[in-house]
Formats: sequence, C-alpha cells, structure tokens
Amino acid sequence: MNKRRIGILTSGGDCSGLNSVIRAAFLRAEMLGYDLIGIKRGAKGLIERPLNYFKLTKEMCDASLLTQSGSILLSNTKTMLRADGSKYTNDECTELAVSGYKELGLDGLIFIGGDGSLNIMNRLLAHSKELNIVAIPKTIDNDVSETDVAIGFTTAIEVVAASIENIRSTAMSHERVMVIEVMGRDAGFIAMYAGIAAGVDVILVPEFKYSSEKLIHYVKKCYDYGKNHCLIVVAEAVESDCFKHDKKEIDHENKISRTYYQGIGEHIVEQIKSQGFDARAVTLGHTQRGGKTAVQDRIIGSAFGMEAVNRIAVTKECGVMLAYKNGVITDIPISSIAQHINRKLGKDDICVKIAQNIGVYIGEI
Ligand code: F6P
Repeated sequence: MNKRRIGILTSGGDCSGLNSVIRAAFLRAEMLGYDLIGIKRGAKGLIERPLNYFKLTKEMCDASLLTQSGSILLSNTKTMLRADGSKYTNDECTELAVSGYKELGLDGLIFIGGDGSLNIMNRLLAHSKELNIVAIPKTIDNDVSETDVAIGFTTAIEVVAASIENIRSTAMSHERVMVIEVMGRDAGFIAMYAGIAAGVDVILVPEFKYSSEKLIHYVKKCYDYGKNHCLIVVAEAVESDCFKHDKKEIDHENKISRTYYQGIGEHIVEQIKSQGFDARAVTLGHTQRGGKTAVQDRIIGSAFGMEAVNRIAVTKECGVMLAYKNGVITDIPISSIAQHINRKLGKDDICVKIAQNIGVYIGEI
C-alpha cells in the first residue's frame, strides 16, 4: 500500500532557516508514517508537467541541514513561463497547481513563503476547498504581519551585524564615514535591528523620513563627540527629497509593477562628501540571504516544521499560516492574513525605543 504523503515547498526569495523547517517536517512526517514530498522551485514544481518533485530521505535530512542556508528544494520568484516562452495566466497556474496536488495524492501541503506566496495560497484555496495547506512565514525582511518573527530574519541580522563590525575597523583606520546599505524592501527591520546590535551612529529606514540637515548634524556630532569615524546603516527603500526609486511594470497582463531599490547608499555618501567628509558606501546585497543559520531560526524553524505536519496529519487544522507570538506557535487563517500582509517598523518597537534613548539618529519620528 502506498504511504500517505505530505508535500513541502519553498517559495519566493530564499533565506537561512528554510532547511531547518524541512528537516523537522521530514522527521515528524516519518514518525507519523508519512512520506514528505519536496516540490521543486516553489509552486512551479506543481504547475509544470511532468510534475517536478522528489521524495525526501533521511540521508537528505540529517542534522547538517539545521545550519545550511538556502533551500534544498530550490525556490522561485519568477512568473510562470510556458515552454514556448509565453506566460501562463494566474488562473491557469492555479488550476495546474491544484491538479498537480491531486495527481501527487497529497494529504496536505506545507508552503514556506513570504507575502507574495500567501497570495498564491489564497488563490489555490479559493479554487479548491479540498486542499490542506499550512503556510510558514519566511523572509529576511521580517515584514509578515501577525508573527513576531519570520524564518530567516534572525540569521540575516546576525550576518549584517557581523559585516558592520568588519566595516568598523576600516572606518576607524581611515577616519571615514561608512554608509552600509541593507535589504528589507519597504520595511526597516533589518536596518534597525542590525544597526542597534552593531552600535552604529545613524539608522535610516523607510518608515521614518530623514532630514538631510539632521543627518549631517549627526555626522558632525560623531566627530565632535571624540570618535574618528561614523557608521550609518540605510535600508534599501529609503528615499529623500532629491532621491527617488524607479518603479517598473514587470507584468503587463496582470499589471504588476516592481520598485527597484538601489542607490540610496551612494546618494547619502554624496550628501556627506559635499560637506567635506570622506565617505564610502557598501551594499551588503545577497550576503544577507546566506550565513550559517542562527540558533533562533533553527529552533523556530524546527517548531514550524513539526507543527505544520501535526496540523495536516493529526489535528487537521489547515488553511492557516503558522505564527510565532510571545514564545508560542499560533495560527491565523490564510484568507485573513493575505489582505494585510505587510508589517512595518512601529514607533513602539524595542529597537526604535533603544535608538531614541541612546542618541542614534533614526529620522524624523
Ligand atoms: O524579500 C527579500 C529580499 O531579499 C529583499 O530584502 C530584497 O529587496 C529582495 O528580496 C531582492 O530580491 P531579488 O533577489 O529577487 O532581487
């Protein structure tokens, strides 16, 4: 007799901690007598024909996965293309994914993804009530609402804080201002948390508009205070009165446009240089998506992985996104989260409070 099957996939931008989720899901599924089926390249593996998947084995899911960044299932952020290069419509993708789920004989699907992925899941659930989906929030940006953390954030801020510490020594030797541009899309969590952890002087985030005059004032203040350097962290989406990001339409059919965030670090360097300071910009880029998985991502990732299997195989509570709140695993219906997915840094955030109380400039708040 065929074993019962649970599917698992990773969708959207990768991060460290995805493999911890996969390993725990495998171990729990094995204990409950299920096979865990890895769907390749996000939902694409369910949409393609032939279906693109493999059965996970204990050899693939040993303890080394706990610290290994990336996804052994591969991930995908691109719109689906047919073999002839034309695009599937959203409806076609949905239909193919639902029939792929059924063809594989899945009892449930663990969908590890960020904001874009929750919209895909909502479409799948709207198309077929029979699907048992459990979502797990992941993104280095930490902007998924209803959860204190998403998988990947903790490792990302460890990586960023360590990079800033490396930059500090050269900033000191050359008595320079160093501007470190970090990811995060429209949320400033990476900049704020890593900046506080690394003890920088200025943190600029999209949530709080900065004043160019105040920025220069704080740079000067740094040197007046007796330091010989100044460290500034800026989130990629920050804009100023004279610097705006470009928005480009990437999908005419579905009217989807995407803003390309690049260049704010260099812009700030120019502002600072114009005042007579020596300054350089460093863009940390995709280094933030790698790195040995932080302990917290390993633990919460393992909790999410085992709980997702329990929801599908034991308690049958699906159609939810798992969340981590105040130290416990909880859940929210996917239908309600998909409408108010993106979270922003608030004025009450602990790191915002720290910054305000220890003299770090974080913009006009
Ligand atoms: O959402 C995660 C993230 O790393 C963002 O912080 C960043 O802006 C984006 O993905 C980069 O995506 P890509 O690798 O597709 O350019």
